[in-house]
Amino acid sequence: MARKKHDDSGDTGGEVAGDREVVAGERQGEQAWQAALRPRTFADYIGQKELIDNLRVSVQAARDNGWPLDHFLFAGPPGLGKTTLAHVIANELGVNLVVSSGPAIDHKGMLASLLTQLGERDALFIDEIHRLSPIVEENLYPAMEDFRFDLFIGDGPHAKAMAIQLPRFTLLGATTRMGLLSGPLLDRFGFHWQLRYYELDDLTAIVRRSARLIGVTIDGQGAVEIARRARGTPRIANRLLRRVRDFAAVEGDGSINAAVASGALDRLAVDHAGLDALDRGYLGVLCERFDGGPAGVDAIAASLSEERGTLEEVVEPFLLQIGFIARTPRGRVATAAAYGHLGLAAPAKAPSGGSGQGRLF
Ligand code: ADE
Repeated sequence: MARKKHDDSGDTGGEVAGDREVVAGERQGEQAWQAALRPRTFADYIGQKELIDNLRVSVQAARDNGWPLDHFLFAGPPGLGKTTLAHVIANELGVNLVVSSGPAIDHKGMLASLLTQLGERDALFIDEIHRLSPIVEENLYPAMEDFRFDLFIGDGPHAKAMAIQLPRFTLLGATTRMGLLSGPLLDRFGFHWQLRYYELDDLTAIVRRSARLIGVTIDGQGAVEIARRARGTPRIANRLLRRVRDFAAVEGDGSINAAVASGALDRLAVDHAGLDALDRGYLGVLCERFDGGPAGVDAIAASLSEERGTLEEVVEPFLLQIGFIARTPRGRVATAAAYGHLGLAAPAKAPSGGSGQGRLF
């Protein structure tokens, strides 16, 4: 059985606001809700098919032969299922999962305490692994390579080096910023994978599954409407489902169809492309204040009074994916599609945005 000894929330201390619209008082309920809807087996997992097929093979080989699974790294924007995958893998392997995050492992002793909790073939999940300190990261190398942890007992000339032998464990790493991972750390993973935004069909199936689990009646078009506005992201789809369910319960008969979903999402200011107020604010600043760019992310962040990391990790990946912005060496530029979305006339210099929108939905 997968067992999380550390934290059962799925929020592992990452600082950037993947959950940006969740206000503090709601966090607990939101996390419990997301955790309850998480798939627990490969069979339950919808989407990311290529990855799941690869993982099935590796997990079966490890399980059948009593091998520890290789160290795996998952990259991608928040909410695509990196934490969920760690739970599914541990569950399918029949081992314990210890969960932590880069910022939470703030000294070497903390890393030692996590590693010494592990049993043979157990898994350690480190979210936001690009945020480990250099010292902690260096101490992770021998653990990953030789299942060894080096300790120094005492200080100064009398300090004694001692190596602790660790069980053969699996490190599951997750990052929203693959580019910030050091080469030596990346090299020590047996496998890394970039998670993609979910296709509309998969996201629709996730909404239907979640609705079934919480006992809400939803028709096909209602599920499509929620999925279409969920930015290709299961966590957002489940969150929107919860909001729409509230509207359906208070103002309707509790069931969800396209009109109920669309009316509720309009009132929640989530538009047809799935953009919320921050996304539209970003595009508005880029198109109007910076004349379509190129503009640096720091300048855009300052204009919005927003964290640069939130823009880079949450807002921009989706706007890039749907072809509303492009990255150039001189900064971000708005595409003609972005102008069109805001109802503005695009200047001649604006790139078309190509097939970006079509790529996702
Ligand atoms: N809930 C959240 N992500 C999911 C997924 N990929 N498959 C099924 N249910 C989910």
